Amino acid sequence: MPKIKPKIKKVIKTVRAASELAAQVGAWRDDGKKIGLVPTMGALHAGHMALVHRAKKVCDKVCVTLFVNPTQFGEGEDFNSYPRDEEKDCAMLQDAGADILYAPTVAEMYPNGTTATLSAGKLGNILEGTFRPGHFDGVATVVERLFSHTNPHVAFFGEKDYQQLQVIKQMTIKQKIGVEIVGVPTVRGDDGLALSSRNEYLTAAELALAPTLHQTLQAVAGWFVDGEDMPAILARATEALEKVGFGPVDYVAVVDATTLEPLKTYSAHVPARVLVAAKLGRARLIDNIAVTAP
Ligand code: PAJ
Repeated sequence: MPKIKPKIKKVIKTVRAASELAAQVGAWRDDGKKIGLVPTMGALHAGHMALVHRAKKVCDKVCVTLFVNPTQFGEGEDFNSYPRDEEKDCAMLQDAGADILYAPTVAEMYPNGTTATLSAGKLGNILEGTFRPGHFDGVATVVERLFSHTNPHVAFFGEKDYQQLQVIKQMTIKQKIGVEIVGVPTVRGDDGLALSSRNEYLTAAELALAPTLHQTLQAVAGWFVDGEDMPAILARATEALEKVGFGPVDYVAVVDATTLEPLKTYSAHVPARVLVAAKLGRARLIDNIAVTAP
């Protein structure tokens, strides 16, 4: 009888201690490798994987982090119910060719208690920050610590969380951290719905309605370029969302793509972004698109 060799499935190396991560990254750095970092809160989907693929293209070694960060969740938010499935995440990362997963404990990330110690500044207090006070201070705090534990050359973030991307770019400059920040375009389903771990909260009926969010963003961008009156644009967009069952609509905004300050009129010389946040059933969804020239 021929011997059948059992197939041992390789699993991605997972470390929980910052010291172990530092030793591995240090060895790679000593070998002259370029290190890429992809921070996540897990419940991975094709949006996260786009960051991993991009990182693999431009870096020699890719470190992904999985940490559901308590300091970026407000009271009454979904910290406890946030989807968690480390086994599935590991399998996806292994398939994508990531090199190491850093999944620290809360104590490893917050040895002195779970409070945010960095401020995201003014950029953190507008738009999302109005509805989620302290959220971006938590994001800035954890990302700075993840940078310090991982010591990457480049870090990858999704444009899906556009304000977060701007906050992190600004924090990196302010803290004089020598990490290059790369923004990766939003991955959407065929229906236009941006992939998100929180889409898991939607019922089948809500999932069918959810693409209206992206359609509304596109409509707003078109009206803006056409020179329509801004208050009327925002009112019409809010109405369109409420009509299909979104609510409350926290904001629809057309802003300068860098400062996130509101814009009143279109100019081909000022890159602009349309952002939206609205609840649909149990889920609070956010999305955004760039305004493109006609
Ligand atoms: P999380 O929501 O898990 O997202 C991790 C990264 O994936 C973020 O940079 C996010 O913008 C990106 N991402 C999510 N959905 C995407 C999509 N559809 N297309 C492209 N990129 C997408 O964002 C966080 O975690 C946390 O705030 C974190 C940065 C990890 C700090 O805790």
